[in-house]
Amino acid sequence: MSAPLPPGIERILFTEEEIARRIGELGARISRDYAGKTLKLVGVLKGSVFFLTALARSIEVPVKMDFLGISSFSNRSGAPGVVRIAKDLDDSIEGEDVLLIEDIVDTGFTLRYLLQNLAGRAPNSLAVCTFLDRTSRRIVQVPVDYRCFEIPDRFVVGFGLDSQQLYRNLGYVAVMKHEKPA
Ligand code: IMP
Ligand code: MG
Repeated sequence: MSAPLPPGIERILFTEEEIARRIGELGARISRDYAGKTLKLVGVLKGSVFFLTALARSIEVPVKMDFLGISSFSNRSGAPGVVRIAKDLDDSIEGEDVLLIEDIVDTGFTLRYLLQNLAGRAPNSLAVCTFLDRTSRRIVQVPVDYRCFEIPDRFVVGFGLDSQQLYRNLGYVAVMKHEKPA
């Protein structure tokens, strides 16, 4: 029943079942926290798409969704990450209760930029939900309100996360055999 792992994959970190269970728990928590409100999920393309759609189905308050795309250039030598919006949201978020959905928070540069940008658009509230969190590599402090999993300092793929645009469609999260070059 269990298919062999694709070449390049070392081991599975979180199975489909673990992911589904955690997303169910998170969805229930978010539904309680936003009871009586309409939630606008804002996804960061493309990595957060699998997580966002799974999470949306486990949320019981009314949900709207919108997406933005970014390009970021960061390196491991300590230079600040440069982020810009390559594809903006379709609609205004003014007065809305926005939950920003990320695939992974690593150094925090991407999230800091996005929070500053979105806060300037006068949402009623702005919170962050990330699928994965690698706090050991954080350089700038950013608020993370909800997260599915904390992960070790290894490059991971699957459930939306890519290595050179591949592996996003894996149903699980896996560690790569060879770390992506910085
Ligand atoms: P940050 O700005 O350093 O927090 O970078 C976050 C972005 O880096 C994420 O949105 C991902 O696109 C990418 N990233 C960081 N770590 C990984 C990983 O382990 N696998 C795939 N992408 C990653
Ligand atoms: Mg990415």
